[in-house]
Amino acid sequence: MRKKVAVIGAGHVGECTAMYLAERNICDIVLVDIIEDMPKGKALDLAQAGPIRNYDAGIVGSNDFADIKGSHIVVVTSGVPRKPGMTREDLITKNAEIVGSVTENIKKHAPKAMVLMVANPLDIMTFHSWKKMGVDHKLVFGQAGVLDSVRFRTFVGWELGVSPNDIQAMVLGGHGDTMVPLPRYTTVAGIPITELIAPDRIEAISKRTRDGGGEIVKLLKTGSAYYAPAAATVEMVDAILTDRKRVMPCSAYLTGQYGIKDLYIGVPVVLGAGGVEKVIELKLNDQELGELRKSGTIYKEMLSVLGY
Ligand code: 2OP
Repeated sequence: MRKKVAVIGAGHVGECTAMYLAERNICDIVLVDIIEDMPKGKALDLAQAGPIRNYDAGIVGSNDFADIKGSHIVVVTSGVPRKPGMTREDLITKNAEIVGSVTENIKKHAPKAMVLMVANPLDIMTFHSWKKMGVDHKLVFGQAGVLDSVRFRTFVGWELGVSPNDIQAMVLGGHGDTMVPLPRYTTVAGIPITELIAPDRIEAISKRTRDGGGEIVKLLKTGSAYYAPAAATVEMVDAILTDRKRVMPCSAYLTGQYGIKDLYIGVPVVLGAGGVEKVIELKLNDQELGELRKSGTIYKEMLSVLGY
């Protein structure tokens, strides 16, 4: 029997997550949204693409949280997206309300599920959901670093005229303006980009990565990115379901690593059947560590807005 993955929120990120998941054919999928019938229509449509796209996973849509029962992972995409000119942090109060109520439903109907947070502000919503779930922090984590890294890889690939597939990148910190791209740990087929790209160009690429979500919000005008966020989410779900022990940057709970405690923030982790099985501590230099801690301080302050 295939494991079940619930995707909460059938907006663009949710529907793309369901679609990419279906194409991997690794789990049954339940797509949940509060808008009457809409997730049912999307699920039906997606299931009917299966014979052509070569998948046969079970895909159902629902307006009823009870249908997430038995889920192995619940992906939370619900929440309002940014509009041009807004930061992810501007969404904090509204999305905390939505994520809080979604988490109560997860706790009620799928208390053993892992929670993969996608709603923004990402690191804050992950913390909020973990607190409400009251489970081991290894089972609640957020998608952000995979998305930020894949943006960095894309821009580096364009800069060098090489395939982004051959680029490994590492972006740490909060999923916001204080994210910390790490050029020293970013390589093209093993060659650090610091040997291939001039410092001012690396800085420009790092800045574009930091502003990567905002660049898309500005172009779309009515919402935020969804293809790459969904693809990044599915990469994480796959790592867990197949227990691949992938090393990826994710929003994980820190207990003193990097000198940061009691906070969710983007760091490299080993992702497998046990969720966040390990946090990897890189040997950061003073500047990198300073930037990561600064990001941490800002997120701590933000948590206080929610009373933590
Ligand atoms: C992004 O960076 C939506 O936060 C997401 O595009």
